[in-house]
Amino acid sequence: MNPKDDALDELVGYEVADRWGDDQDVHVHGVARLGETPSPFGGKRHPDPCALVIFGVTGDLAHRKLMPALYDLGCHGVLPFGTTIVGYGRQELRDDEFRALLQSSIDDHYGSESVDGSLCERILMTPRYVQGQFDDPSGYARLAAVLEDLDAAGTRGNRMFYLATPPSQFGVIVDQLGASGLARKGAFDGASAGDGPAAGWTRVVIEKPFGRDLATAQELNRTIAAAFDERQVYRIDHYLAKETAQNLLVLRFANGIFEPVWNRQFVDHVQITAAETLGVEHRGPYFEEAGALRDMIQPHLMQLFTLVAMEPPVSFDADAVREEKLKVLRAVRPMPPDRVERFAVRGQYVQGMVGGEEVRAYHGEDRVAPDSHTETYAALKLLVDSWRWQGVPFYLRTGKRLAERVTEIAIRFKRPPVTMFRDAAAGGGLAPNALVLRVQPDEGFSLRIESKMPGHGNHLQPVDMAYSYGTTLHELPFSAYETVLVDAMEGDMALFNRGDQVEQAWRIMEPVLRAWQTAPERGIPIYEAGSWGPEAADALIARDGHSWRRP
Ligand code: BG6
Repeated sequence: MNPKDDALDELVGYEVADRWGDDQDVHVHGVARLGETPSPFGGKRHPDPCALVIFGVTGDLAHRKLMPALYDLGCHGVLPFGTTIVGYGRQELRDDEFRALLQSSIDDHYGSESVDGSLCERILMTPRYVQGQFDDPSGYARLAAVLEDLDAAGTRGNRMFYLATPPSQFGVIVDQLGASGLARKGAFDGASAGDGPAAGWTRVVIEKPFGRDLATAQELNRTIAAAFDERQVYRIDHYLAKETAQNLLVLRFANGIFEPVWNRQFVDHVQITAAETLGVEHRGPYFEEAGALRDMIQPHLMQLFTLVAMEPPVSFDADAVREEKLKVLRAVRPMPPDRVERFAVRGQYVQGMVGGEEVRAYHGEDRVAPDSHTETYAALKLLVDSWRWQGVPFYLRTGKRLAERVTEIAIRFKRPPVTMFRDAAAGGGLAPNALVLRVQPDEGFSLRIESKMPGHGNHLQPVDMAYSYGTTLHELPFSAYETVLVDAMEGDMALFNRGDQVEQAWRIMEPVLRAWQTAPERGIPIYEAGSWGPEAADALIARDGHSWRRP
């Protein structure tokens, strides 16, 4: 029997889905029946059961993202029976305390009154906890013994190591997984690990940030390559798992009308925005080290950029897609180190009003240095030296404590060559056509076109042809972390970064990192919390005759 069919018979969500399918009041985010949960690109989700080993399980990421995502996977009916959570951490915890901790993450996220207790029973089953330092071989020996137990009990030798620790620990853990034999180099799918009953796959999932510059990313890649085969390595970028990001390739390559105009002849410029209203919350120490460029632009916005700018892949196979992404990253024109300020702007928020509430300056945030030069805003202009994009600027911006929370990609098209309607246009000028892909919130897309106002005379106004995901969804889609988890469990690498891609994205950032690091004495431009960023960012785009969208 196909082990996948076997696993399908045992999906945790089966009864729950059957029972909850008719009950609209229960807090479930779209319930799918057994085997009915579609994968984003067709097919069904049938992951193998596995031991999900979470390093850093007592940390913020596991608490806020991973546990709620696992619960949601249970709700969606795709978590296979036998899947067991194993925590590895420095804290002393008994298994029952560990279980209570996991439960509290789910309760905190959804409110204990709306959480389904019996589903939690099934998802959490009997989680195991291994106490150990990240660099202590004896901890990994204890982990190996627990995993062998679980293999016999139902995880079938499948192991997913999820590194949800501070980035400084990634290399240490990977080293130890290699040295202890737990990495099982080459076991990227069950078949490759041998024929015995406990054969199975071993995969490692690595959170961002992947390195803090090119050199550290290269070093981490070398460490990983010593322990694992690249086909076992899943470098996360949760932006790739967002619905609109996934839909971008479908929009481009499953429709005939966009590709012919997706080039320098028709596109004037592209703006990619990830604006947040939140500040750095309790993550001051992390953010002090990272800054907006490392935190958002190098990983997330560069991913959105590659999806817009890449050439059509020969197939939808993970490597075919990743190959095209790498090519476009390679085509990005290196920024001249002596003129970085023409291409990159940073800023830091000062006190202001966000959503009607007064918020403090970045300097005043918890565990942030009062004289910090860390940027909470960053904007870049990228040029791509390719036949398709020569001369088309791509502007990327992100910031904390901005006026609105919105992530979008806006493709601005060129104006018509002849402006015979100049006098009829609202405000005296024709608005350029724009295709706007809204990543969040209100996922969807719209096409802005000029239209005649009804009635006498020739008056024009811009209108939007819009599609909102909310109007056609029968169930809420998988959250980004659900997608990431289930894809890694299924061995689908399409939404994960390859080592060479990450390095290339760092290579593009290098001149900016160096310029900002070596010029702290010049100070950092400021912007008021609740605004759209520093004036220097407006100047960056205005030099080319454009302005930022106010979404
Ligand atoms: C994370 C960053 O990767 O992405 C955070 O570390 C940021 O600083 C977050 O707030 C944004 O993600 P999302 O999914 O809320 O847009």
